[in-house]
Amino acid sequence: MNKKTKIQHLNELKGQSLLGGGQDRIDTQHKKGRLTARERLDLLLDKGSFREVDPFVVHRTHDFDLDKQKFMSDSVVTGWGTIEGRLVYVFSQDFTVFGGSLGEVHAEKICKIMDMAMKNGAPMIGLNDSGGARIQEGVVSLAGYADIFLKNTMASGVIPQISAIMGPCAGGAVYSPALTDFIFMARDTSYMFVTGPDVVKAVTHEEVTQEELGGASVHSEKSGVCHVAADSEADTLFLIRKLLGYLPQNNMEDPTYVVSDDPLRMDEALNSIIPDDANKPYDIKEVIRMIMDSGQFFEIHENYAQNIVVGFARLGGHSVGIVANQPAVLAGVLDIDASEKGARFVRFCDAFNIPIITFEDVPGFLPGTNQEHHGIIRSGAKLLYAYCEATVPKLTIITRKAYGGAYCVMSSKHIRSDLNLAWPTAEIAVMGPDGAVNIIFRKELDKAKDPVKKKAELVADYKEKFASPYVAAQRGYIDDVIEPKETRPRLINALEMLSNKRDANPAKKHGNIPL
Ligand code: HXC
Repeated sequence: MNKKTKIQHLNELKGQSLLGGGQDRIDTQHKKGRLTARERLDLLLDKGSFREVDPFVVHRTHDFDLDKQKFMSDSVVTGWGTIEGRLVYVFSQDFTVFGGSLGEVHAEKICKIMDMAMKNGAPMIGLNDSGGARIQEGVVSLAGYADIFLKNTMASGVIPQISAIMGPCAGGAVYSPALTDFIFMARDTSYMFVTGPDVVKAVTHEEVTQEELGGASVHSEKSGVCHVAADSEADTLFLIRKLLGYLPQNNMEDPTYVVSDDPLRMDEALNSIIPDDANKPYDIKEVIRMIMDSGQFFEIHENYAQNIVVGFARLGGHSVGIVANQPAVLAGVLDIDASEKGARFVRFCDAFNIPIITFEDVPGFLPGTNQEHHGIIRSGAKLLYAYCEATVPKLTIITRKAYGGAYCVMSSKHIRSDLNLAWPTAEIAVMGPDGAVNIIFRKELDKAKDPVKKKAELVADYKEKFASPYVAAQRGYIDDVIEPKETRPRLINALEMLSNKRDANPAKKHGNIPL
């Protein structure tokens, strides 16, 4: 071969590799309303930025006549590119090749790119669309999965890891995404489950569709496995780009700084947002939008455990993580799901140097046998532990109720919060006035001629004494009481004041968060 033919040969080979499992299978993929692995990368990455590695890799299996079917790149496309000019590493499983199934070389390709992401400190994004372990390769496929699981675990807390589920993700294959920081799912075209409908039917006699068992709605509303459910594949990829804007490249960096709004802006409407009746709801997301830069809030777990709200925003250009009780859902009570949702988010922010802003309006932990029997003690302790161990800047705003154990948990001063502000509407007490009066004045109420009137008097008295921010402020448990409209400039000032914060935990192998 002369030089010219060698170059032609190279281009032919590259052309073959671009076709994956062939045009027919690409057409089938499109008919299912799905994009191909490469089309997805085109949408995810900055135009023209993708650099592929290992396009010549083919599998090494002979069993089941597999040696007669070889596809260049095998069933996963790997490489790197940029998102808004910042480096990311990617893999995108190719369903047109053996159903995107994972065998030896597929796993090797993913591991190689994960090693590069770790060494060079950039996020790892995996686009999943796979029939799971390549059946013909047997235990080698299982070994490949285990190799990836180990790398996911080693990378956890070092680089952000993001998974998008774009098609099937079944069996043990779900555990690599589950080990990553965020799972995005495309509605109607993706699903995740440990065992599919056929196995479920055989074992439990339960009839269930793939969507009912593990579609995006199930995982974003019920199980909490999915952090963001998007309307389409394109939307999924767009939202991943958006999320990355709030994150640093790795745990040794600070997140990016992007100024888009007046740091001194005050919203007068905040002064009247808390209803006169302390038991009436309001939407904490409205409060968040009024305070954050340009009213932008990227919510995580939007439809799961809605009594707590978590997500990313910017304040004076700084990326921040927000954790907020939601009085509009279950009065903002802390239950098992809300505690776990909050704890996981707090730990992510702490691992990646993202300051945590807590908005508190919480009547306490949810009482009842259901919660107790399912372990609210253990789950509540997760949130407590996460806040206690976090060393990033922590700022708390008590908008209304801060009752009981929930007062301690929601980033109180006592667990190393840096600045705790209260609105004049704050009520900081061991419990709500009604419950407190029932307990401490039980005898007086029993003896009273008019127990209803007596109780109203006692409740009013209790409220006067305790249902305010001033008792806590007198002790320095909160640092200041402010007008609600001042919240934005005060928080931005505090973030800047804390920009060189140094805090650490004692040396240890690792703590023992109550899992
Ligand atoms: C090898 C596979 C495959 C697999 C699919 N294919 N899954 N090849 N190993 N696991 C191939 C098919 O033979 C077919 O090849 C092509 O991919 C497309 O598959 P179809 O069945 O035609 O597609 P579709 O109808 O869309 O169904 C997709 C599917 C189904 C639901 C994913 O293929 C399926 O149920 N696959 C098996 C799923 C599974 O049980 N996997 C093992 C899970 S256990 P051709 O040549 O026709 O294009 C597991 C353990 C991991 O993963 C443990 C880690 C700890």
